[in-house]
Formats: sequence, structure tokens, C-alpha cells
Amino acid sequence: MKSPKIVLLGPPGAGKGTQGSLISGYFEIAHITTGNALRINRDLKTEYGTPRSYMDRGELVPDSIVNEIVEVEIKKVGGFVLDGYPRNKEQAEYLSTIAEIDKVIYLHVANEELIKRLSGRRVCPSCSENYHIEFRPPVRNGKCDSCGDKLIQRSDDEKDTILNRLRVFSEYTKPVLEYYNNREGFTKVEGRDNPEDVWESIRNIF
Ligand code: AP5
Repeated sequence: MKSPKIVLLGPPGAGKGTQGSLISGYFEIAHITTGNALRINRDLKTEYGTPRSYMDRGELVPDSIVNEIVEVEIKKVGGFVLDGYPRNKEQAEYLSTIAEIDKVIYLHVANEELIKRLSGRRVCPSCSENYHIEFRPPVRNGKCDSCGDKLIQRSDDEKDTILNRLRVFSEYTKPVLEYYNNREGFTKVEGRDNPEDVWESIRNIF
């Protein structure tokens, strides 16, 4: 498949960022992640307040802000993997008006595992490289392997915020799974295995 348009769905911590990078490298397509785009613009003042005011509570940022980010980004590229969008039915409907999606991949992981992954995640504030204190530790304790900067914990990876993000996923993003479930190109992948095995399952879809 040349320059596919892929949607990667899954709860917080399912591995969308991890697998999204692999998909993007494999097909040489853009990796569009609304979470990263919003983190970069977290203090942008909008008529709804800043993105940070939603993200730090684990709530969804208003659709009009996110839809615009996605529309601008997908217009710049051919193929893409969308990570973290759409997150509710309204966003899914909006996406259908701006792009024809080839594949929708849903990464399924149980809540207990998600909590373990998110509470142990560490990220590099400079290059956004992702680590886990147990599953993917950096070579030098607390330092990024790629650029050497000091790793940090994301502010929304605190226990209470993680629980709220899981609740928001159940309430708003599960309906998106139903929206895509009976459409051609939808595949559910078991995301609980190690990253290499999950990647193997994803590659097999293509
Ligand atoms: P976002 O940044 O998208 O966060 P998320 O969806 O909660 O997902 P995460 O980035 O936490 O996890 P992931 O699935 O990418 O997993 P990862 O690969 O990092 O969004 C943040 C916030 O922005 C939202 O809460 C919301 O406020 C806002 N937002 C974003 N999009 C929006 C939208 N469309 N509409 C409205 N608001 C929006 O992996 C997690 C950890 O597990 C890592 O440490 C990793 O190393 C490890 N890991 C990964 N895979 C495995 C594996 N197979 N086995 C063991 N460990 C693994």
C-alpha cells in the first residue's frame, strides 16, 4: 500500500505513539499526533481557554481547536498516520469530510496495564522520545538516549489524571470504535504484548 491514510485508535497508554512512529517510518508517511501538537501549543489563548486547562485535567480539548490542527496538517501531506484523533464521534464525522481513510487500527489494552504504562512513562522535553522506567529504560538513568536531556514525567501522567483520561476514553472515544467497527478497513489489534510483537501484528494487516 503506497502512502496510506491510517487512523490509530486506543486508550491512553495503549502504545499509539510507539506504534505510530513505527508505522510512519515503515511507510514513510507523516505521524500526526494531536497530543504533541497540543502540548506544543498548550498555552495558546483561545476563546475556550488554553489547551493546557483541559489537558492537565485529562479532558478533551474543544473540537474546533483540534479539527483545525488536523485539517492543516493533513493538507500538507499525502499519506499519514493519525494518532489520538478522532476522539469523539463529532471528530470522526469531521474527519470523513476532509480525508478518505484506508485503515483504522484499534489497539486494545486492559486498564490495569494502561495505568502501569502511564505511571512509569518518562519523556524527553527536548526531542519527545518516549521511555518507561521498567519496560523501556534509557541507557543512562534519567537521561534521554537521543539527546541527553533530563527525562520528565508528563503532567497528565499523575494517578488521578490517568483515571480521568480512562473515563473520558470510555465515554467519548468508545463511540468512535462503534462508528468504525462495521466499516471496511477496521482492525482490532491486541496491544498488551511487547512493542515488537504488537508491531508485527500491525505489519501483518498490510
Ligand atoms: P495524547 O498525547 O494523545 O495522550 P493519550 O491518548 O492519552 O495517549 P498517550 O500519549 O498517553 O499514550 P499512547 O497510546 O501514545 O502510548 P505510548 O506509546 O506513549 O493526548 C493528551 C491530551 O491531549 C488528551 O488527554 C487531551 O486532553 C488532548 N487531546 C489529544 N488529542 C485530542 C483530540 N483529538 N481531541 C481532544 N483533545 C485531545 O506508550 C505509553 C507508555 O507505555 C510509554 O512509556 C511506552 O514506552 C510504554 N509502552 C508502549 N507500548 C508498550 C508495550 N507494548 N508494552 C509495554 N510498554 C509499552
